[in-house]
Amino acid sequence: MKLVIVKNKEEGGKLAFSLLKEKLDAGAKTLGLATGSTPLSFYKAITSSDIDFSKITSLNLDEYVGLSADNPQSYAHFMQEHLFAIKPFKESFLPNGLAIDLQAETQRYEELIAMHPIDFQILGIGRNGHIGFNEPGTLFNSLTHVVDLADNTIQANSRFFEKLEDVPKQAISMGIASIMKSKTIVLMAYGAEKAEAVNQMLHGPITEDLPASILQTHPDVIVIVDKAAAGQE
Ligand code: GLP
Repeated sequence: MKLVIVKNKEEGGKLAFSLLKEKLDAGAKTLGLATGSTPLSFYKAITSSDIDFSKITSLNLDEYVGLSADNPQSYAHFMQEHLFAIKPFKESFLPNGLAIDLQAETQRYEELIAMHPIDFQILGIGRNGHIGFNEPGTLFNSLTHVVDLADNTIQANSRFFEKLEDVPKQAISMGIASIMKSKTIVLMAYGAEKAEAVNQMLHGPITEDLPASILQTHPDVIVIVDKAAAGQE
């Protein structure tokens, strides 16, 4: 894994964007995208650019179960607001959190990933080391699946909801093996609350107790952090 320490998230977003541009120039066609506050500066860099994304396909990591795409808390809505409405893509996929048959939906999504292999995957990291919504204990060989969210993830994500009870208890997430198929992975992390997870991901044992630690075995991962997330302040 390559580690780059940047001044702040703006610089981090711009760096991730410049890495993306290199890959687009080299023929990348499919992006894996993430939600949360971490990738926002990256999306800002994309929407501020004049680069054409109309031939690019995207697949998002995850979606809450039970929220429709027009629910402001859904990840579909988040992506629309911060990226797709401003920068049109060829096509963009997210798991359907309203699917009646959730198992069938996870299979459909995994087939989509197989049809559109991800060239460049953006990741954030949860305070407990989760990637996507793959909580500690998720099998490294997992494909897209339905997840019961960990209490501390529900707690952390409740800041986007009116009340804690409004946070969905389940999500559909790409699995760890689905994420690991991506050719290049760029993981960003900002703020001191991520420092422990980042340290364990980079230097700790490779263990399902810290899902992001599997990235140590991936051939092309760039980790972009600010000083706080690097444990330097
Ligand atoms: C959520 C998302 C993850 C994200 C994490 C961190 O649980 N499913 O993809 O990386 O939160 O979020 P934030 O970037 O807001 O700290």
